[in-house]
Amino acid sequence: MCGIVGYIGDREAFPILIKGLQRLEYRGYDSAGVALISDASELQIYKKKGKVSELMAATTSQNRSGRIGIGHTRWATHGEPNDINSHPHSSQNKNLVIIHNGIIENYAALKSGLSKRGHTFISDTDTEVLIHLIEDIKEHEGLKLGHAVQAALRQVVGAYAIVVMDKEDPETLVAAKKGSPMVIGIGSTGDFFIASDASPIVEYTKNVVYLEDEQVAVLRKGKALKIRNLKDKEITPYVQKLTIELEAIEKGGYDHFMLKEIYEQPRSIKDSMRGRLIADEAKVQLGGIVDYEAHFKQAKRIIIIGCGTSWHAGLVGEYLFEELARIPVEVEYASEFRYRNPILFSDDIVIAVSQSGETADTLAAIELAKQKGAKIIGICNVVGSSIARASHAGSYTHAGPEIGVASTKAFTAQVTVLTLMALHIARLKAGISDSRYRQMLYEMETIPAKVEAVLKTSPSIKDIASTYKDVKNALYLGRGITFPVALEGALKLKEISYIHAEGYPAAEMKHGPIALIDEDMPVVVIATKGANYEKVLSNIQEVKARKGKIIAVVTEGDTEVKSMADHCIEIPETDEYLSPLLSVIPLQLLSYEIAVMRGCNVDQPRNLAKSVTVE
Ligand code: AGP
Ligand code: GLU
Repeated sequence: MCGIVGYIGDREAFPILIKGLQRLEYRGYDSAGVALISDASELQIYKKKGKVSELMAATTSQNRSGRIGIGHTRWATHGEPNDINSHPHSSQNKNLVIIHNGIIENYAALKSGLSKRGHTFISDTDTEVLIHLIEDIKEHEGLKLGHAVQAALRQVVGAYAIVVMDKEDPETLVAAKKGSPMVIGIGSTGDFFIASDASPIVEYTKNVVYLEDEQVAVLRKGKALKIRNLKDKEITPYVQKLTIELEAIEKGGYDHFMLKEIYEQPRSIKDSMRGRLIADEAKVQLGGIVDYEAHFKQAKRIIIIGCGTSWHAGLVGEYLFEELARIPVEVEYASEFRYRNPILFSDDIVIAVSQSGETADTLAAIELAKQKGAKIIGICNVVGSSIARASHAGSYTHAGPEIGVASTKAFTAQVTVLTLMALHIARLKAGISDSRYRQMLYEMETIPAKVEAVLKTSPSIKDIASTYKDVKNALYLGRGITFPVALEGALKLKEISYIHAEGYPAAEMKHGPIALIDEDMPVVVIATKGANYEKVLSNIQEVKARKGKIIAVVTEGDTEVKSMADHCIEIPETDEYLSPLLSVIPLQLLSYEIAVMRGCNVDQPRNLAKSVTVE
């Protein structure tokens, strides 16, 4: 996730690029950069860590002229957020520059081949490899820029939205995409605008072309837009008229960032698996922890620390590691762990889970664990964040910026990475059968599509929300690996609708909470197929016997729970140990719909902050 912009035409490019980047900054804000070619054919690149406003301030005295240019706000996936790793990146001969949104999965292999051909690299990014590859092909095969980009992209595995500019051809921009978004605006004076979404374009033109995957566009000032696919087949541009307004566009057409992020989960889960899950080869590749595989293999214990939603993800991790890798796991609230003088051993592995990578309690817990000799594995969503840097190793979630205070796509991305990690360690320890391992890898590949299917249940969830939007309390029940999902569902409801909600192990009801049950107490039960399914049926009966209202999340086709519950939300069948990735989605949607109906500030709930960097 990041923001890309480009312009070619008869206006000064810099103001258009900067304003466009500011509109896209919500997509990623590790660093910002622009490249311009002046009328005197001087190529200027200005880029630095930090926000777009800092880039503007740092370049006020620079030559920012030029009527062709590209710009980028980065959401780092490969390489710390710093000046060098900021985009645009240059080719070896410094004539070509590129901006990129996405992940080049096979960048290491490409980089090694290019290094053997004399290329040297100055950044740690995957993107820099791509511009060197384009240059290598262009120079050695004598191709025009557009064809060189096509040829290079035929070698690329991964996701990209790129714009390439050539100092020696200041009349041309080349754009291409696969898996990341790109919109081309067609100006009224033969000029063109390029951006990740329509928000930087809509004030200049409503005529846009949404580039499709594996298409390459060549934009020449005053000429017709040319589009070809990677097989060099010409594609007729399909020009559409923008209808929605600017404000809506920044949220991708959704009313709130939280809803947008809920709907981004098929993509963010896929991105968090990208380059790591290779089911056909029965392989999980987690480059970030390769140096600590031996530690995992001999670890007698894993301690997972986190706060809030990240703690819930950690709890799912406990079930995964214990079931699949047979390693004892303890899950700790970071805020408790850090003050408890915990007993730690040097062969302990501590996994720190954090979306922001800046949570003070988690950071402090890491420092304490390090002092006691434990190895720290970070699972963060922000590259180069404090927790990522404080960890010995780790694997990033590639969920992209999460703007809504209530964490949604970060949770499923964290669970995705924990699942991959548990499967990988299980395989290393030979603690899982080959058939179960393969079955789970193939099933993981189906999860993004199954999440997509769950998102389609949203209309029925809206109906349920309208029935219960005025309740004062709610109970969320789960058993086994769905117990943490019950906790997460309850947290979602509390933090954005301000309704008191508690998550509980379903079997624990009879030890107290059942006293709360009456017709005013909705009970959300995760009753998906699994080892404890029959027991959950009994728990539902216990609630029904006391006139409690049941909202059940069930495996599609379930008729038994349907005959008992007041409302049923069906989710696709999947492996019990992958079910949290699906069963949490209806709970996210339910909390969102109720909060909206209650007129709450969904993206910025009262009293909360996106990242709790204070103790
Ligand atoms: C979750 O919806 C909340 N926003 C909050 O509990 C959050 O998960 C917690 O503060 C931890 O944040 P982190 O993942 O950035 O460390
Ligand atoms: N993978 C590239 C990088 O880490 C692009 C990331 C993005 O989409 O901003 O620089």
